[in-house]
Amino acid sequence: MIDVQNLTKYYNDFCAVDNISLTVQPGEILGLLGPNGAGKTTTLRMLTGYFKPNSGSITVNNLQMGKDTLKIKSLIGYLPESAPLYHNMLVYDYLTYVAKIKGILDPEKREIRFRELAELCGLSAIMGKPIANLSKGLKQRVGIAHAMMTDPQILILDEPTSGLDPNQIAEIRNIIRSIGKEKTIIFSTHILSEAEATCDRIAIINKGRVVANDTTDRLKQSASQASFIRLSLTGPTEKQAMDLLKTIDDNLEITPIFSMADAMVSFEIRSTNSNSSTSEDADINSRIYLKIKATDWIITELAKESQALEKIFQELTREDA
Ligand SMILES: Nc1ncnc2c1ncn2[C@@H]1O[C@H](COP(=O)(O)OP(=O)(O)OP(=O)(O)O)[C@@H](O)[C@H]1O
Ligand SMILES: [Mg+2]
Repeated sequence: MIDVQNLTKYYNDFCAVDNISLTVQPGEILGLLGPNGAGKTTTLRMLTGYFKPNSGSITVNNLQMGKDTLKIKSLIGYLPESAPLYHNMLVYDYLTYVAKIKGILDPEKREIRFRELAELCGLSAIMGKPIANLSKGLKQRVGIAHAMMTDPQILILDEPTSGLDPNQIAEIRNIIRSIGKEKTIIFSTHILSEAEATCDRIAIINKGRVVANDTTDRLKQSASQASFIRLSLTGPTEKQAMDLLKTIDDNLEITPIFSMADAMVSFEIRSTNSNSSTSEDADINSRIYLKIKATDWIITELAKESQALEKIFQELTREDA
């Protein structure tokens, strides 16, 4: 388990990471999601032992960063923001070089590991190619193979899909998911859909702080609970409409909103029942419809506005947030 408590990092007097706490369970894929400059890279560099925090603690499997830094480093594979590859080398030669540095000296063991990595990262067809000639996506795959060389328990990837085309992104995601079946993974991204598609848990960071941290499922659920119904009616006064709407359900919060036309009244209607589900929402929709149908008013608009996770992310990471 990775346990981060009150991690803080200053560059001179600028606070890039401000009191971040996180835990990552074994086997979990955590997405560190945040806009440019949020502090993702700085956080990952501290987690991998490359930067010392100004304060706070990092514990990995009961080992203490600062005291057992080398032991922790041996548990972690790290792919930095721009993969440090030697462009004039062949993929095979580069991986051989990495393997030797990491202490895999027996050629037979190396061959076995290369076959596994080629399979895992889809490298079989490019082993004999110069790194300089590879697409960005293929270079990233070589970078992941580098990070996974010693089969570490934990893999940390800094924006692994940044600058890739959609096909390459899908390939890298698949590799991350398949590694994630057995390993703990932390990766950073500024793309919400990426975190949503791949991660078990998402920590949203902004200006060095954690502004949300939950399982992907729960974040999605709270986003959908923030949905509401927009209703516009022609015929009644605001008070008449309010009085009728109030009789539908005690758990409704009804807010009059600005109406586009003079003869029209508009409302936002939210369920205050925190367990409300999609089917209940549909039920409220139809109850509103039936109530109004019994009057001579005209429904000009009856629509469900769902607050997507995207909106929540934008709210939490606004420039002025
Ligand atoms: N070596 C440094 N010296 C001074 N300030 C730095 C340094 N590295 C980063 N910063 C600042 O710290 C803040 C966090 O930077 P960091 O690179 O951790 O963010 P990030 O979330 O990884 O951003 P990006 O999405 O652009 O990679 C930014 O405002 C950045 O300008
Ligand atoms: Mg970064």
